Amino acid sequence: MKVVIMAGGKGTRFWPRSVERKPKQFLSLTSKETMLQVTYGRFRKWLPRESIYVVTTKTYRSLVEQQLPDLPADHIIEEPAPRDTGPCVALTANFFLRREEDEVIVTAPSDQYIPDDEALMKALWKAEQRAESDLAIVTLGVIPTRAETGYGYIEAEESAEGIRRVRRFIEKPSHEKAQELILQPNMYWNSGIFIWKPSTIAYYMKLYQASIWKRIDLPGDTWKEGYSELPKISVDYAVLEKADTIWTVPVDFEWDDVGLWTSLERIHGTDEHGNLAEGPIRFLHSFNNIVFTDKAKTVVIGAADLIIVSTGEGLLVCHKSDEQLIKQVLQEWEREE
Ligand code: GDD
Ligand code: MG
Repeated sequence: MKVVIMAGGKGTRFWPRSVERKPKQFLSLTSKETMLQVTYGRFRKWLPRESIYVVTTKTYRSLVEQQLPDLPADHIIEEPAPRDTGPCVALTANFFLRREEDEVIVTAPSDQYIPDDEALMKALWKAEQRAESDLAIVTLGVIPTRAETGYGYIEAEESAEGIRRVRRFIEKPSHEKAQELILQPNMYWNSGIFIWKPSTIAYYMKLYQASIWKRIDLPGDTWKEGYSELPKISVDYAVLEKADTIWTVPVDFEWDDVGLWTSLERIHGTDEHGNLAEGPIRFLHSFNNIVFTDKAKTVVIGAADLIIVSTGEGLLVCHKSDEQLIKQVLQEWEREE
């Protein structure tokens, strides 16, 4: 088994702490180590360095090298531009197939909180066995606890076995749909960790994303030209929602996607007033806020359910229920510039 850590996302929903120059995977959010270092360490504990790779965009290569001195230099798979996880996964598969390697790979995000690495590895080894068969895409299914709109949902077939066939995959549903989904039996969150052979990825890319695969499969270095014009699409929409040979290993270990400010509340906990704070901050009559500041003094009075983040890059004031909109507002602003 090889592990490929995806570390090329922009982490926009963590703005203004996460910025394009240094997105969240390169920041310390859950521990003293950065998210990338935590992810690498989690796998490195169980696997030799020869089995671990990182896929990232050209601009982040030096950050990866700085943060992971243990990673062999030729284990960085470099994308010419960020095109989301669809092209990223296709490129990863193509990288191995060009070397005539078709060993099962685990494509893993670099933004997750999984304290029990042993339980994770046990699930991955179970998944690996199924992924060895042709065209099997294996996912890890997490038991859902809320109507989260930022995740993919997996409906599995009824079975007592440790690995189950997937009936349907729904990426990022609306709030109404998510509320409906969590009430259904055999419904899991997609952990975002996929276990599959490069040839399986290639098969589905050719089938559903022929233009992406055709570009990436061009000979020599010619595939690099025009890569930045490839459709920007996540692997969940590009393949998972369409494929029909998906399996899931249900898991019950602690898991979180460190994708939103509120995920830090679940990981770090709050004080007796429900506030989570980092920096020199005084609260008065304030409840359930998340406040991060690099200012010498910050005072919060009479505020509830707010996210307030102040860094040299900007200031965010956002109601907790609107945090999914941070990305949208920033993208619109960028387009106007
Ligand atoms: N190399 C590379 N290139 N990595 C990328 C790119 C890219 O263009 N875009 C994103 N990534 C990396 C991110 O850094 C992150 O580690 C991982 O890919 C997943 O991207 P996210 O943007 O965090 O995805 P998500 O959280 O919205 O959704 C995915 O994960 C959820 C669980 O964490 C989906 O797979 C959902 O279905 C899933 O529930
Ligand atoms: Mg994520």
